[in-house]
Amino acid sequence: MRLDKFLANNTQYSRKEIKRILRADRVTLNSELVRDPAKNIQPDSDVRLDDLPVEELGAGYFMMNKPLGVVCANSDPEHETVFDLIEEPLDKLHVAGRLDIDTTGLVLITGDGKWSHRITSPRFKCEKSYIAILSDTITDRMIEKLEQGVVLEGESKRTAPAIVEKIAEDEIRLIITEGRYHQVKRMLAAVGTSVTELHRERIGKIYLDNALQPGEYRPLREEEIAIA
Ligand code: URA
Repeated sequence: MRLDKFLANNTQYSRKEIKRILRADRVTLNSELVRDPAKNIQPDSDVRLDDLPVEELGAGYFMMNKPLGVVCANSDPEHETVFDLIEEPLDKLHVAGRLDIDTTGLVLITGDGKWSHRITSPRFKCEKSYIAILSDTITDRMIEKLEQGVVLEGESKRTAPAIVEKIAEDEIRLIITEGRYHQVKRMLAAVGTSVTELHRERIGKIYLDNALQPGEYRPLREEEIAIA
């Protein structure tokens, strides 16, 4: 890989800034000053910027506590996006399972497409756990229907069986393994009620870190990446 590309991929600097940095004699390659942005580097090359080693960042894996009013799109003309809240030198990040603008809680963000596919594809039956506050009292009949699977408006295939725990008269924990468009809200609509608040607390075995305030994020730990 070219030196300027490696530096741009693994630091906060753009390719243009890297060129200036190289001209300022701030980079060494295997202990030699280097100025040529096109210089080829190998996986075992020792690249230093201001004498600090530049490490390969990899794909990047993060969890965020998504606040209300923020969208999970890459860009949006009107609203703040989760990527506006992330300060990382990685430019190819995506959300593994979006949340609606009015849903809060756990969002996983990565540059690893294979990893996010395992989370989002219904084939892998990765559980997503939501807390939903409802506009009505939940009945046993509604719970039964949700657990059996419901037909969403405009669709013909029943949703996969869900797990429902009643927390209060108007509050449930709903665990699903698919990620259809607005799925939780549409499932609740299909049984005759509506969602007034929705929060995601878990994806697979990854729980939202309750030290994260709304809008905060942190890198995933090795074991979290492995168990997703
Ligand atoms: N289901 C919804 O309806 N909305 C979300 O944000 C997530 C799941």
